[in-house]
Parts: sequence; C-alpha cells; structure tokens
Amino acid sequence: MKIESTPSDWISSPCDALVLSVDENWKGREDLLRLNEATGDWLFPILQRGEVSTKPNRVTLLHAPAAKSPSTLVALVGTGARGKAPLDIPFRAAASAIRAVMTKNRSTVRVVGLAGSPLEERAVVAGAVSACTGQDLFRSEKSIFAPDTLQFAGFHSRQVEIGQIVGQSIQLVKRLVNLPPNYMYPETFVDEAMSVSQEAGISIEVWDLEQLKAQRCGALLGVARGSVRPPRLLVMKYAGTDTAMAPIALVGKGVTFDSGGYSIKPTDGMLTMKADMAGAATVLGIMRAAALLKVKRPIIGVMGLVENLISGDAFKLGDVLTARSGKTIEIHNTDAEGRLVLADCLNVALDYSPEKIVDFATLTGACVVALGNDVVGLMSNDLSWQSEIQSAANSCGEYTWPLPMFPFFSEQIAGKVADIKNVGDGRWGGAITAAKFLEEFVGSTPWTHLDIAGPAFADSSKPWADAGGTGYMVRSMIELLLK
Ligand code: BES
Ligand code: MN
Ligand code: ZN
Repeated sequence: MKIESTPSDWISSPCDALVLSVDENWKGREDLLRLNEATGDWLFPILQRGEVSTKPNRVTLLHAPAAKSPSTLVALVGTGARGKAPLDIPFRAAASAIRAVMTKNRSTVRVVGLAGSPLEERAVVAGAVSACTGQDLFRSEKSIFAPDTLQFAGFHSRQVEIGQIVGQSIQLVKRLVNLPPNYMYPETFVDEAMSVSQEAGISIEVWDLEQLKAQRCGALLGVARGSVRPPRLLVMKYAGTDTAMAPIALVGKGVTFDSGGYSIKPTDGMLTMKADMAGAATVLGIMRAAALLKVKRPIIGVMGLVENLISGDAFKLGDVLTARSGKTIEIHNTDAEGRLVLADCLNVALDYSPEKIVDFATLTGACVVALGNDVVGLMSNDLSWQSEIQSAANSCGEYTWPLPMFPFFSEQIAGKVADIKNVGDGRWGGAITAAKFLEEFVGSTPWTHLDIAGPAFADSSKPWADAGGTGYMVRSMIELLLK
C-alpha cells in the first residue's frame, strides 16, 4: 500500500473513493463547500435534508454525479461537534471511513477534510492505515480490500510520515496477535522480531533455553516447562539519537498460548488465549515505530515468550520457583503465569539501568471486570511516571485509568513456604495483587504496569476496526516518546 500526501488539487484529479468528514457545523466547512460547488450544488441539499449522520464514526456512502466529482463514491464520516469531540475521534473516524470503502477493491482512496493539528493529522493517518488489517488472515474469501494508494489531502508530510509508521506498527501488532497459536509461538515470534530488527535497525539478542537456564530465569522457565515448544527471551536495543539519555525499558508478556496449565481454563476462556502475547507484540510495535521515527530516547525492549500448557513435566500447584532475582515463589495457581514470566523480564530490564520501566501485559481478567473491555489499567510505584503515560494516552484518545497500589495489598501475596505466592488471597482486587507481585521485581526504579487484558483484543468488530488484535497503546507510547 502506497501512502501519499496530495497537493491542494484534490477536487480536480480523479480517485476511486473520496473520504470527507461532517461535523454538526458542516455549513462552514470549506472542503464540503468546494465539493458542493464542483458538483453543481449536489451535496448541500442532501446534507440539508439530514440524510447524512454527523454522529461520531457513522459513515454514509453517497454516489456523486460522475464527471463532476473527483470520485463517484463519496464517504462522509461523522465527527460530532467540532472542538468538543472526544480525542479518540480523528483516529476512529478515519478508520471507520476507510473500513466502509474497503468492502471491495479500490485503487486510490483519498482522505480530505480530516486535516487539523499535527496530533490530529497523524492520528487520522494512523487510523486509516491501521484499519487496513483485519483478522481474516486465513480466509480464502477476504472481506477487507486495502487500497493500493491512500492519499491525504492538505496534510503536512511529516504528519503523514509519522502516521504511516505508527499505523503500520499497529498493523504489525494486530497481525501477530491474530496469528493462530499453531503459527505464533516463541520461535516464530523471534523470527518476526528479527525481521523488525533488520527493517528498523534495532539490535536484538535472543536467549534460548540454554541461556535462560544459565541466566537462572526460573520463574519464566517454570511456566515454559509444560510445552514442547522451547521458550525465548528477547532483548532489543534501540540506541536513540540522544545517547546521553538514560534508556526507557519496555517489557512485554509474550504468552503465545495460555491454557491455564493445571489450573486449566474453561473452553470459552481459553479460545482467545492466542492473544496472551499482545504485550510482547505491543513492545515490538512500539520499538519499530520509535526506531523508524528516530526518537531521541534510547529504548530497551524485553519480551518473555512461552506457552502455558500441560504435560507430565508441567509446573504444578505447590511448586516453588526461584526467580532470576533470587526471590522464591510458591505456585498457587498455574493460570497466574504472566506475572511469573514478567518477574524475570523485569529483572533483566534492570540490568540496563533504565530511568523508567513500563510493562504491557494481558495480565488479569480482574482488570477487565474493574474497567471493562476498552480501558487500560495503570498501576505504578511512581505517580509522576504513571501520569506521564496517562496524559500521553489522553492526548491521542486511548483510554487508560489508574488503580490504587496501597501497600496493604502486598500482604495478600506473602508466601508460607517461599518468599511470595503467585496469587492474592481471593478474587477481589486481582488486578492490583498481580501488579503488587510485579512490583517485587522492579527494585526502586520508577515503573508503570499496563494491564491491557481488555483493550488488546476485541471479541467483535467496531466501525473503526475488525475484531481481533487492536494494537492498543502503540500510539500513546509514540506520543510520549516524541515529546
Ligand atoms: N491471560 C490471563 C488474563 C486474561 C484474561 C487476559 C482474560 C485476557 C482476557 C492470565 O494469565 C490469567 O489467567 N489470569 C488469571 C489470574 C488469576 C488466576 C489470579 C485471571 O485473570 O483469572
Ligand atoms: Mn493465565
Ligand atoms: Zn495469561
């Protein structure tokens, strides 16, 4: 797919679909006026009659008189009230419009009238690009037809460039999350990471089983034991353009399939557990975008890749594992595996003396109970690092919300046989007790945990996205790194 910023003659050169937006005050909009004039007062009477919804992300497809409009197909997407609209509008409106015209093959799709602030423009481009990937990877009859060329009229070329890189990185995350678990397992994730490292110029270190043992990653290895597929740990390093800056560490949970282990999940809960590597995919997507955008800050990415399965040699309830940090962990539930994988990954991240750490993990169902499917849970040992992440997310319209980390929650993870146990005392506050467990492995480094169990994977499609992987938090982190 080619992506271009087009000059101001969008009204005269032909294309195969024209995307425009309509807000509540559409009468004052210059681009709509131009199309109306070019088509001999075709558009405004339709708008006047209220045929076109201005509600956010509603798309109306119209067929304009040929020879007068640059395209006979005109897609009008609602953006609500200008200025007052929530910040998620530019990304979602653009994505919704693109999805509405992608129902069949169209060579050139031109987006007009969603230009605005630099932040809005890159959100629009990222939204349009990201919408071009769906979950139908293995369907012989495709339902999504990505255009050959996507044009953005009146956009600043730098914002188109940023939006394109971010949008493609979201596509990468979606694809990795959507790949079935017989295709996506630790070794194949590594292959994908290797090609990203080549493409974006990021160094990569792959720890295999031998190395993981030599490094005493006992928590991660405990989880991995149930699978015939060997685990991997990835350390990726992006040098940054300001090498004097201390690095940020990004840590990702990469459980390529979570059966629950002996604390086995019921069928319904297990079905989508190919998505349990979304944290690691998110880290890879962020690193790709950051490196291609040449952000200043050096970045260390640590991804722990395992399958959580059952076998004669799988880890058991009551087992005691020794993490890389030396802490001993009593296993009370083999389905609380993500925190074990992350315990060692966080410890590896500390080797690089990062200024701050952020981890991404589909860690708990409890976080989804607390915040719903569409909000990322934030938990931190450093409120200013947490709010830096929350404001970056706010600025680009991704939804995050903090959960409290009061010290008394830690009482629940005190161990009897070992230092700590891998679950709290009951179900209540499960997202927080999981975060408290992680906190044991970050020392005094400012750290924020992002529980993406809800937003990383969508069970049903939305106007702006197919069901499946979402690439959530890539945009927020790039906004943060671009600052
Ligand atoms: N991968 C799951 C969490 C999850 C649940 C992600 C639903 C996405 C959707 C995690 O490994 C898990 O199983 N957590 C347990 C923890 C419990 C045993 C303390 C959970 O949430 O039930
Ligand atoms: Mn689990
Ligand atoms: Zn899991």
